[in-house]
Amino acid sequence: MISIQSEGRRGFLRAAAAFAVLPLLPGCRPDVSAQIGGADIRQRLLKNAIADAGCEWCGARDMPENLASKAVIAGPDEKGERLRIGGRVYLHDERTPAPNTLIYLYHTDIEGIYGRGSEHKHGRFRGWLLTDAEGRYEFETIRPAQYPSRRFAAHIHMTVTTQDAREDWIDSILFEGDQLISARERESRKGGFNPILTLEQSGGVLTGVRDIALPRS
Ligand SMILES: [Fe+2]
Repeated sequence: MISIQSEGRRGFLRAAAAFAVLPLLPGCRPDVSAQIGGADIRQRLLKNAIADAGCEWCGARDMPENLASKAVIAGPDEKGERLRIGGRVYLHDERTPAPNTLIYLYHTDIEGIYGRGSEHKHGRFRGWLLTDAEGRYEFETIRPAQYPSRRFAAHIHMTVTTQDAREDWIDSILFEGDQLISARERESRKGGFNPILTLEQSGGVLTGVRDIALPRS
């Protein structure tokens, strides 16, 4: 702090001039760091969330107030195999980490059903993750089942939203060994890398890695 009493009048004028300049130098203002925080990032992400209520796959618009890079989607009391998936989000080049990317995900329950009764159409297993400084994310949930029709492989839907690009869907997470994975799903790379995960057992939890490259915007 500048002590005006010890500076005298000339010092006071210098100090006053310095304070007058401060608003033009955002980097020097002590309140700026508080402004460039989670709330601002969330607001920018919300602007890029698709608001159209008719969009069947969107969900970024429902992001909670507090976002983190890790989340539990299905609590420990939910029936089903425990599943933990993590990875890193990169820019389209598949090399540059993409921090502060919002991932929205949702999946069916162990009977292949999304919403029941008054639940959201995407069901109760929905999650929002904000990648950390290295682009990392992780979530724990239960392994979803194929739809009751048994026409499609079990999957976890994902969308990505950044501060620069609108919400977009990427290839769903699939699980190697599922007989219903189609040839088209094996070839698709919207979201980069391989969305078909080979799961491993780790202390009673199935684990997998789903790295993501952001779609070209
Ligand atoms: Fe689905």
